[in-house]
Amino acid sequence: MSKPNRASRWSLHGMTGLVTGGTRGIGHAIVEELAGFGARVHTCARNEAELYKCLRSWEKEGFIVTGSVCDVSSRTDREKLMEDVSSVFNGNLNILINNVGRNIRKPMVDFTAEEFSTLMATNFESIFHMCQLAYPLLKASGTGSVVFTSSVSGFVSLKSMSVQGATKGAINQLTKNLACEWAKDNIRSNAVAPWYIRTSMVEQVLANKEYLEEVFDRTPIRRLGDPTEVASLVAFLCLPASSYITGQIICVDGGMSVNGFYPRHD
Ligand SMILES: NC(=O)c1ccc[n+]([C@@H]2O[C@H](COP(=O)([O-])OP(=O)(O)OC[C@H]3O[C@@H](n4cnc5c(N)ncnc54)[C@H](OP(=O)(O)O)[C@@H]3O)[C@@H](O)[C@H]2O)c1
Repeated sequence: MSKPNRASRWSLHGMTGLVTGGTRGIGHAIVEELAGFGARVHTCARNEAELYKCLRSWEKEGFIVTGSVCDVSSRTDREKLMEDVSSVFNGNLNILINNVGRNIRKPMVDFTAEEFSTLMATNFESIFHMCQLAYPLLKASGTGSVVFTSSVSGFVSLKSMSVQGATKGAINQLTKNLACEWAKDNIRSNAVAPWYIRTSMVEQVLANKEYLEEVFDRTPIRRLGDPTEVASLVAFLCLPASSYITGQIICVDGGMSVNGFYPRHD
């Protein structure tokens, strides 16, 4: 293998990427980070007005970003999305960021069959199918990188998150399996596992000041994460600079998942 120079190891110029759920939160930051490193990016979301607002704003910033309205929990929407991606990028895709995921917080005994299916379909079945659809495009590109947005809930137990945690645990295992199954095609597979990141998904639960204090108590770095702090790791995992890293799930959690017992007041 020829050794690329430093500039090309830290650049995504000439590469193409799909980021699901790019209009807000972590996905939005990932779109900007990948585009900032020179990639052409396609993204999707359900809300058309919000999607087009983002696309206009990225265009003004000089980023090359296109988008599709798509609900990734729908099989037909996913197929249409991948047709769009194939058409925009001429059948080549270097980067697939499976970012969309949702949460329903309640004790596991209270889950209805429908709620269980909804979470499984949105968080796991959809990304499994997205990977199947993207595979020929990733392979055709010659250098592929898949990154999943997992969660610390896939490693440690979190209150009222047994189903969501199970979907993220499944993602973590898929990350490892794809790393081995697709290495022959020069496609890497990694995941990022955030703890609390300040986004629209968690603003309601974090509006509770006492709960927020408990989050800070449990987090060695004593603050929430910012979406850009996840996006920078995702970009790194897509850069040629990380070309020997595959099958890894990396926490972006201010130390939360390694925190045994460090009392705040001792
Ligand atoms: N924020 C955290 O603290 C945290 C912690 C751990 C893990 N995570 C994970 O990080 C990922 C992103 O979370 P976030 O906090 O950035 O969420 P967010 O702020 O709620 O943003 C979600 C994005 O995904 C889009 N989206 C949601 N459902 C979709 C669907 N069914 N089809 C297509 N697009 C959809 C949304 O647009 P539309 O609503 O218009 O569709 C929006 O662009 C999730 O997988 C989540 O589990 C987040």
